[in-house]
Formats: sequence, C-alpha cells, structure tokens
Amino acid sequence: MKSNRRSFIKKVGLAGAAAIAASHTSFSATEEKNINFITRAFRSPENTPLRVALIGAGGMGSEDMNVALSHDNISIAGVCDLYQGRIEQAKEKWGSSIFTTIDHKEILKRNDVDAVIVGTPDHWHKQICIDALNAGKHVYCEKPMVHSVKEGHEVINAWRKSGKVFQVGSQGLSSLGNEKAKQLLAEGAIGKLNYAEGFWARHSPEGAWQYNIPKDASPQTVDWKRYISNTVDRPFDAMRFFRWRNYLDYGTAMSGDLFVHLFSSLHFITDSKGPEQIAAMGGLRYWKDGREVPDVLLGMFNYPDSAEHAGFNLSLRCNFVDGTSGTTYLRLVGSEGSMNVEWDRVTVQKNTSVHSDDPFLQAKSKETSSAYTGRKKMVGPLETIYKAEEGYKGAHYDHFGNFFHAIRTKGSVAEDPVFGFRAAAPALLCNDSYFKNKHINWDPIKMEVRS
Ligand SMILES: NC(=O)c1ccc[n+]([C@@H]2O[C@H](COP(=O)([O-])OP(=O)(O)OC[C@H]3O[C@@H](n4cnc5c(N)ncnc54)[C@H](O)[C@@H]3O)[C@@H](O)[C@H]2O)c1
Repeated sequence: MKSNRRSFIKKVGLAGAAAIAASHTSFSATEEKNINFITRAFRSPENTPLRVALIGAGGMGSEDMNVALSHDNISIAGVCDLYQGRIEQAKEKWGSSIFTTIDHKEILKRNDVDAVIVGTPDHWHKQICIDALNAGKHVYCEKPMVHSVKEGHEVINAWRKSGKVFQVGSQGLSSLGNEKAKQLLAEGAIGKLNYAEGFWARHSPEGAWQYNIPKDASPQTVDWKRYISNTVDRPFDAMRFFRWRNYLDYGTAMSGDLFVHLFSSLHFITDSKGPEQIAAMGGLRYWKDGREVPDVLLGMFNYPDSAEHAGFNLSLRCNFVDGTSGTTYLRLVGSEGSMNVEWDRVTVQKNTSVHSDDPFLQAKSKETSSAYTGRKKMVGPLETIYKAEEGYKGAHYDHFGNFFHAIRTKGSVAEDPVFGFRAAAPALLCNDSYFKNKHINWDPIKMEVRS
C-alpha cells in the first residue's frame, strides 16, 4: 500500500522527572521503514520566577544563558567573567543595566540570585560550584563536572550538605532521543547489550580548538592573575586563556571535553555506574600548535556485571583530523540488534536471520538449513526510526527544563553530581592512561581509582 498516512499506534509513557512522551508510527511510501515520532507533553506551567546568574560568559555559558532565558519566568541576575570583552558582550546581549563583575564571589553574595550557571574552563568548576552551594545557590555546572578525579568527592559532599539542586551540563541525556533509547533498551529492543561505541569526528581549526584570540587580549583586559590563581603561576599568555582546552592546567583534553558526553548518554540509557577498566591510546598527529594534548584519542572500557546490566565493552574515539566526517555517534549493540542514538532520533536495526558476507558462514548456514521444512516465518521491520516531532526544542532546552522543574518542585535531576562524577571520571582517567601509558582500574561504585 502506497500511502503517506500517519497512523496513530500507541502512547508511550516515559518515567523520569520531565516528561511524558508519545510515539506514533508513520508508514513511509515504500513501507520498508517504520518511522515513529516521539514528542513531549508539556508540563503544567512553571510559575515560580527564578533569577539566574552566569559565571563564565564565553561560548557555552552564553548559550546556556540564552537557553535558560527561553524558559518561562526566568530572568538574568548578573554576569561574571574575567575578560572585559565578554562583559561588554553580555551587556549588549542582556541589557546594559545587568550586574557584572570579575569576582564570582560578588555574584554569590547577592540575594537576588537563585541559581548560577558555571561556564568557566574546567579548572574553575570545582571551586566555583562549592562556593555557590555554600552560598545557598542552585548550580548548573558545565561538563566535565571536575578537572581531576580527586576533586569529585569534594563537589559531591558540598552538594549533599547544601540540599540544593545541582545539574551537570551534558545536555544530551535530557533529550527525547536518549529517553527513547533508555526505554527501548529496557524493553529488550536490541536484546542483551554486549558492546557500545561512540565517536566524535572533526576537521577544522575551530573544531580542533584553535579559537579566535581577540585583538585587545592583554593583562589590561584579562584578569590573568585570577585565572591562574588555582594553578601553575605563569606570565600572561593569551593562548592559554582563549585556547585553554589545549593545556592541561585548565582543560581536560579530548576525553574530558567530548568523551564525557558519550559516557553521560550511555550511563543514562543503561543506568550504568561506569566501567572498571580504562585504557587509552592516541597521538598528536596534525594540530602541532604547541598544545599539550593529543588530537586523536581512542578509549577502551570494560563495564562489569552489575545490578543494572550484564557486563559489556565500550570503545570511544575522537579524531580532529577526520577527513571523512564532522559528526558524533553513539551506537549500542545487543544480541538481537543495534541502536544508533541521537538527541532527536533513535534508529533500531534488527537482524532477523543469519545474513553474512562471510563465505564460510554462508556455507554453514546452507548446511544447517537443509533439514528445514520450508515454512516461511513472520518477519518484523529490519529498521525502525524514532524521531522527534517537528518543533522539538532540543536537548539543551529540555536539560534546563529539568533543572528549573527540580528547583521549583524541590525535586531531583538525573545528572546530579554523583552521576556527573561517574561520567567525568572514566573520561579523565583516559588522560591518565594515555599519559602514563597504562591501564587504569576504577571502582565505579565507590568512585575510587583501584591500585
Ligand atoms: N555542554 C556542551 O555541549 C558544552 C559545549 C562547549 C563547552 N562546554 C563546557 O563549557 C565550559 C566553557 O567552555 P567554552 O567553550 O564556553 O569556553 P570559553 O573560553 O568560550 O568561555 C569560558 C569563559 O570563562 C571565563 N572565565 C575563565 N575563568 C573564569 C573565572 N574564574 N571566573 C569567571 N569567568 C571565568 C573566560 O573569560 C571565558 O569568557 C567548559 O567547561 C566546557 O567544557 C560544554
């Protein structure tokens, strides 16, 4: 039957703080693919006004603030940044009368701040988050939650003491795509998970962290002393300020920047607490601009049997010299099929019979099927696509929605500091493995490196 008719099949209730999602099926013209649309029912109006301040108003912090302000009853209460140019941009964007400062403690003293977004480089996350929690503010902290594994428990302890909502910023796990994948895995859509893989591929100067350095960058426009006050003392260096990802004093390399997103989504979908063995290899192949970190990185991870899932393996890769693609990818492979997980789409592929290009297996398959009676089987669709309905506002919007909802209802979020640390730690330990040239053993329950 050739038809574009949409046929409403079923409603799917999704557990979780945020959402109820509905799914309905569309038969494509060829009927070869099952396409299901996933959508989110709106929550009751979020009335309580919340005032949010931004600490670290660069690329991501500014994007976070814009997304926060696109929610109902959210206003901006101030901006803190160490570079004068960012302060000026913030005033242009959000109004010349907003409170601005170079000292995050000035933001935290204010009674008109309910929550802060921490969008600084990684080496400031821990201290600013702890100061914010101690000052009674809710916290949205960009990923990775911490700059080193030894900082994780300090943040968790401060959060537990504070009673405040703390969400880490791997926004993908709040997406319709991640929620759908979690539901499908639990329903057995791909059988038993035994392998997962993910990658991040780029090939551009900006993609490889060679950001623009403003012409006016100098110790007069940048509070350099404050920037390095919690790390190694060095003379002013604009590269180290504006291209901080390339240096280990401030950034966490490819794995802390990008693997962490894949860990967050994977752990959300599988309910996993994390791997117990971590091994990484890589190299600096192309972007030899003085950086201290590799531009190609491969990670391998062993996830043990646990209460949440049977053991499986994970392989991750990041390549900033990838001439074939500029994309990211997360794929879960089970005993009965696989799932490609995107933030607005999940593609389930099933293997309903033995198909193999391997001549040996083909011959074997013929042997075993010679006794077959010839009766045909019922075969389901080989590929089913779940995609977000038109108008979906995306993962970032949903992530802030979950954060504000938890604050307003005194509830909780999925990506709290315990979750955030369990996603950050294996990513950060990739750097230990790479630089020390050894496998790292990690206890995902106690969240400790095993000797
Ligand atoms: N969730 C995501 O998809 C995503 C994407 C990009 C970046 N990030 C994260 O966001 C954070 C910021 O990354 P970015 O790309 O926006 O960097 P950026 O360099 O564009 O911005 C960082 C800003 O922080 C300011 N800053 C530095 N130290 C400060 C301090 N002590 N107090 C106040 N301001 C300070 C800098 O002046 C700069 O304006 C990082 O942790 C990064 O990993 C997340």
